[in-house]
Amino acid sequence: MTPARAVDLSVQIGALRLRNPILAASGAFGYGLEFNHLVNLNRLGGFVTKGLSREPIEGAPPPRLYPTPSGMLNAVGLQNVGVRAFVAEKLPALRNFDTAVIANVFGYTLEDYVEVIRVLESAEGLAGYELNISCPNVKNGGRQFGSDPTLVSEVVGAARKAATGRPLWVKLSPLVTDIGLIARAAEEAGADALTVANTYPAMALDFHSGKSRLGSPTGGLSGPAIKPITLRLVWEARKAIQSPIIGLGGIETVDDVLEYLSVGASAVQVGTATFADPRVSERLVEALTKVLERDKVFTLNEIVVNFEAEND
Ligand SMILES: Cc1cc2nc3c(=O)[nH]c(=O)nc-3n(C[C@H](O)[C@H](O)[C@H](O)COP(=O)(O)O)c2cc1C
Repeated sequence: MTPARAVDLSVQIGALRLRNPILAASGAFGYGLEFNHLVNLNRLGGFVTKGLSREPIEGAPPPRLYPTPSGMLNAVGLQNVGVRAFVAEKLPALRNFDTAVIANVFGYTLEDYVEVIRVLESAEGLAGYELNISCPNVKNGGRQFGSDPTLVSEVVGAARKAATGRPLWVKLSPLVTDIGLIARAAEEAGADALTVANTYPAMALDFHSGKSRLGSPTGGLSGPAIKPITLRLVWEARKAIQSPIIGLGGIETVDDVLEYLSVGASAVQVGTATFADPRVSERLVEALTKVLERDKVFTLNEIVVNFEAEND
């Protein structure tokens, strides 16, 4: 008897081939190594590191997390060890794993972004970069890089020039009136793929004390509460651009994954769900494999319903 053919969950994101479409999201998975005793990193499609900046950042005062109905608020303040410490202290150990490590990059000026990428370019062991453009541009009155197509072109164009050796993903801010416009600006400036999307600025307070529930006045909303909104953003971005899209926002179950793939994502990331179950990404890979086996198909293309085609 010939052995059963194994299902193939692999996906192509530009030049990058991922073992499967499930990645752990930036900010929910540290530098990967912290999860090694809980998760088989080699089973994931990959993971995105905590955002890396030019210099180390201590981050925001506590409390940094606050649960909300069907979601979570966070104000971490982009705490991180800084790009040089990441390269010296984290990356060497990560090279022992057979998983795609995507470095999430941010800054407060164009030069910051370029410098972080420059340092990473000379390091081995990364599969690509993800540019977080939901940051205030301090040289432009604090306006978010991701809020305006001209600023998006500038920051993506500069990053593209610096990132000569690796794929460049651009992670969009959800707080825009026309995601298609922003997606096109990022694509035209050289993004290889778009990640849609980041958290939604939000707040929670205790009216008795009049104080924020977080150590900061506002935070970012994530989790199942945002899924319907971000799903729409992925669908709208899909109609605007040709490049691959990585969808994320509120993913907890295999159905959530399939919904994102149906509206046009090629892969997904899992953030907040990791806080309740650190193994969730690995479980989703197992669950996706089971769905394909149950339906007796071998590739994702055979199972993902194309929402566009169904709703013509
Ligand atoms: C605690 C926390 C920290 C985060 N830090 C980052 C970060 O450093 N860079 C980034 O691009 N996104 C960051 N994010 C955003 C997530 O990667 C993701 O875009 C968002 O949470 C939506 O996905 P989810 O609903 O699955 O969490 C963070 C999210 C959380 C909850």
